[in-house]
Amino acid sequence: MSEKENCSIELMTPEMAEEVLDILARAYATNPINRAALESSSIERNRAFFRIGLQTMNGSRYVAKIGGEIVGMAHWVDSEKCQPPALDKLKLAPAMIRDLGLKSSLRIMKWLSAWSAHDPKLKHSHFGPIGVDPKVQGKGVGSALLRAHCEDLDRRKLMGYLETDRPENVPIYEKFGYRVINQTEVLGLMNYFMERKPSSQA
Ligand SMILES: CC(C)(COP(=O)(O)OP(=O)(O)OC[C@H]1O[C@@H](n2cnc3c(N)ncnc32)[C@H](O)[C@@H]1OP(=O)(O)O)[C@@H](O)C(=O)NCCC(=O)NCCS
Repeated sequence: MSEKENCSIELMTPEMAEEVLDILARAYATNPINRAALESSSIERNRAFFRIGLQTMNGSRYVAKIGGEIVGMAHWVDSEKCQPPALDKLKLAPAMIRDLGLKSSLRIMKWLSAWSAHDPKLKHSHFGPIGVDPKVQGKGVGSALLRAHCEDLDRRKLMGYLETDRPENVPIYEKFGYRVINQTEVLGLMNYFMERKPSSQA
């Protein structure tokens, strides 16, 4: 039986946080915008970045497992909650500056503000992050997480929305009915903004 067939999706629990942080850090260490913002491809710096980020992910958090081991994570959140309140962001600033330094913190804020400026006004479900353990990438884990997200969108007849800094990811999202609606440079890198119409078929 292939790993693809063995992959199961379940809700993330607080006890899974360290394993999930490890996967996100290793999955995103080579992402261009993470490298630009964190000024390195250090797994430790990405772990610190996601440790802070996880506190702002207040939507649905799912993990993918193969043989009981967590191998991927995805988060999506309704548009009403996709921007953490300004006060919450302010509360996280000291930890970010302490763990990542002022220069990277300013770059992260510039990056996230640029993304927020593109958020659709219409009600939507905001997808991201998604990360799959590099040792099992390309084996269907990301697709299983995306399928769970799209099933939720279809059940609720909701629009989906996401951002990506990796052009090679655009076709992956297109397979699930997402289409590029805008693109712009952020921190000197092209970023793609994608939307999936309610109950859209790929
Ligand atoms: C992007 C990511 C979540 C995809 O998950 P995955 O488990 O590797 O993807 P899957 O195995 O389900 O593959 C999905 C499809 O994309 C294709 N694909 C996967 N990786 C690819 C790559 N690097 N380049 C081109 N196509 C790729 C697969 O062939 C598959 O197509 P198919 O259904 O026709 O076979 C994962 O690779 C990842 O964590 N990457 C690093 C972090 C990242 O980029 N996160 C998203 C930021 S927007």
